[in-house]
Amino acid sequence: MTEFKADRLLLFGATGDLSRRKLLPSLCALDADGLLPEDLAIIGTARSEMTDSEFRNMARAALEEFLPAERRGSMAQFLNRLTYQDLDASTLEGFDALAERVEEAGSSEDGGLAIFLSTAPSLFEPTIKGLQKAGLTGEKVRMCLEKPLGTDLESSAEINDAVAAAFPEKRIFRIDHYLGKETVQNLLALRFANILFEPIWNSNVIEHVQITVAETVGLEGRVAFYDDAGALRDMVQNHMLQLLALVAMEPPTSFGATAVRDEKVKVLRALRPAEASETVTGQYRAGAIGGQAVPGYDEELGKDSDTETFTAIKAHVDNWRWKGVPFYLRTGKRLPERVTEILVQFRCVPHSIFEGMGAGLKPNKLLIGIQPEEDITLSLMAKVPGLDEDGVRLREVPLKIAMPDAFAEAERRIAYERLLLDLIKGDQTLFVRRDEVEAQWQWIDSIRAEWDKHGVTPKTYTAGSWGPTAAIALTERDGVSWHE
Ligand code: BG6
Repeated sequence: MTEFKADRLLLFGATGDLSRRKLLPSLCALDADGLLPEDLAIIGTARSEMTDSEFRNMARAALEEFLPAERRGSMAQFLNRLTYQDLDASTLEGFDALAERVEEAGSSEDGGLAIFLSTAPSLFEPTIKGLQKAGLTGEKVRMCLEKPLGTDLESSAEINDAVAAAFPEKRIFRIDHYLGKETVQNLLALRFANILFEPIWNSNVIEHVQITVAETVGLEGRVAFYDDAGALRDMVQNHMLQLLALVAMEPPTSFGATAVRDEKVKVLRALRPAEASETVTGQYRAGAIGGQAVPGYDEELGKDSDTETFTAIKAHVDNWRWKGVPFYLRTGKRLPERVTEILVQFRCVPHSIFEGMGAGLKPNKLLIGIQPEEDITLSLMAKVPGLDEDGVRLREVPLKIAMPDAFAEAERRIAYERLLLDLIKGDQTLFVRRDEVEAQWQWIDSIRAEWDKHGVTPKTYTAGSWGPTAAIALTERDGVSWHE
């Protein structure tokens, strides 16, 4: 943890989508709960010319649209924290004026500056240069970066080098917003705050793991970005690999930034380069979701494209703990429901005393709901009540914890609330370290290279289905069904 608390937050891309949908609402919600430093000044910057009051009006409209009324508190108090300075970040010229604005916002003796870059990655390098020139990269400045951090290992390394030229790693905060989700952090509690799971959390007892991140949305107006990225880069490279790392990592020695990230990176480095035959890609065609007709990807895009909107991968973590345990990953747009979940499938008991009775014995499984349901369900076998004249009958019964019921009084927060607060405080535990990002890209690049080598193009699937049939075949040939 770096020592200073930020009392100024400089937001690049302040008029953009992320800022309006997530960052401003998160900051306002924190303010409403009295969690922001009292004197925190927020300086927005973007290309458009705007006065402070125009920026505040834009922010007010965003809050009214994206933050529930009961979480807004006194919006006026929050809006008063905001000022705005326009800037063309691709040239050095405007940075002195920006630095003046930051200066004017004032700072206490022990306060510092947190900079949040939510702009196109092509602007990262010029922005860092501009900040350097204007003296905004000193010891009491933290740099926070939003994805996408590159499109492959090489471009990601370039971005990381550019940032590293101005900031040491301990002042760089790379966002993966999944780490800000309460249920994702709860994975650590489930695994490491309970004695039950750790002794059986390995290939002796676990048969396979499934991670699904399904979305019902399509392109959402992000045409150019998404068509260049595709599901593998957009979802697997970051969010899904972080989930996998949290499931597969060794117990860290503490809940500290170095300890947690050291263990995650070991898992990411142990990922075996996937073979094309262990991957499936798909692209949606017109269909219906929840009774609503939706257009196909090519129609939304307005042209043909080979970008995958779905991918399923059989991944392997080549280490002692996970030898022979497949991790099936699956993500896609325009699937039947929005659900993120992790299924841990255990092995059968080594010897069944109910053999030959047709008892219906099944292996246990643990289902961890990340969103929208926040449930943890352990399926156990139980005896069906009765006199057993035809032998014992067994049935799966769920041992279920519904987190919202267990913690009814707790506020449900936007993932960015936690991350912004940690950025202000300087706690890196829930931010991604450079070596993690690079290990993630290395694995993703290996898959893309396989796709290129084998000329893989996405198979079609109907919007509202669970992806191409090949995704079902990917698991069925191992005798495994996707959890639905
Ligand atoms: C983003 C992706 O990182 O995550 C989007 O770029 C995706 O394509 C989003 O929709 C999903 O986030 P969440 O929090 O809605 O699951």
